[in-house]
Amino acid sequence: MAVLEIKDLHAQREGKEILKGVNLKTGPGEVHAIMGPNGSGKSTLAYTILGHPKYEVTSGDILLDGQSILEWTADERAKKGLFLAFQYPTEVAGVGYSHFLRTAYNALSKSLGDQNREVFLTVREFQNYLKKNLDQVGLRQDFLSRYLNEGFSGGEKKRSEVLQMAVLQPKISILDEPDSGLDIDAVQAVAKAISQVSRKDATVIVITHYARILKFLDRLDYVHVMAQGKMIKEGPKELADELEQKGYAWLGITETSSQ
Ligand SMILES: Nc1ncnc2c1ncn2[C@@H]1O[C@H](COP(=O)(O)OP(=O)(O)OP(=O)(O)O)[C@@H](O)[C@H]1O
Ligand SMILES: [Mg+2]
Repeated sequence: MAVLEIKDLHAQREGKEILKGVNLKTGPGEVHAIMGPNGSGKSTLAYTILGHPKYEVTSGDILLDGQSILEWTADERAKKGLFLAFQYPTEVAGVGYSHFLRTAYNALSKSLGDQNREVFLTVREFQNYLKKNLDQVGLRQDFLSRYLNEGFSGGEKKRSEVLQMAVLQPKISILDEPDSGLDIDAVQAVAKAISQVSRKDATVIVITHYARILKFLDRLDYVHVMAQGKMIKEGPKELADELEQKGYAWLGITETSSQ
């Protein structure tokens, strides 16, 4: 159970201000969507929340259960249950996928000290747990013996990111365009994985350009629209359809990819 609150957040990368006063609040079990034109700052917001060292917060705050996390490193944030599925996952040669998942899962369980998390004492037990999740996102078991994302197809990389969320069970997951490059069946599988995680009182924030993935979710509490480094509108799930039909010009956003 965790509450994430972003207050008037300003952040820059290499001296260029990208976030210009973002406000957002999420609670346990909630599913939020963030939509917005290319270049509006969605990925920047995700990286800033996770503490990517290249993004510098110049004012405002990020609070987890009322406590500022700005001074925490990315590693510390992850250990408190924050998770990011990348828009562009990177290949990590030499890191075995199965070993990576087990190490990450155990580290998170240890630091959260949560009695409700399953404990997997043996490799075999953990493999069984993984198998369920692999089936859910549609990856074959033999992926586990490969290196993390190495040689995975575009869609397989995206499924792999969602698999990590399903396996790790973070408190707050931010998925940056989990539906991009996915085939039709995978979009639905990914939506199911999101619904399952959020049912366990965890929070999920889905960044997407398309209403389609959102339609498959069991629950969607808010749709936020981001433009030019700020949230400019918020509404119920129907807002996603409205955006898809009318485009962003309807909200008075005329230029894309300009700040
Ligand atoms: N190092 C940098 N120097 C200058 N501008 C940058 C830098 N990094 C990011 N930007 C700019 O910040 C803006 C926000 O980028 P960001 O990736 O957050 O957008 P986005 O909303 O995720 O877009 P998309 O929908 O295309 O993924 C873009 O205009 C981008 O060009
Ligand atoms: Mg992006």
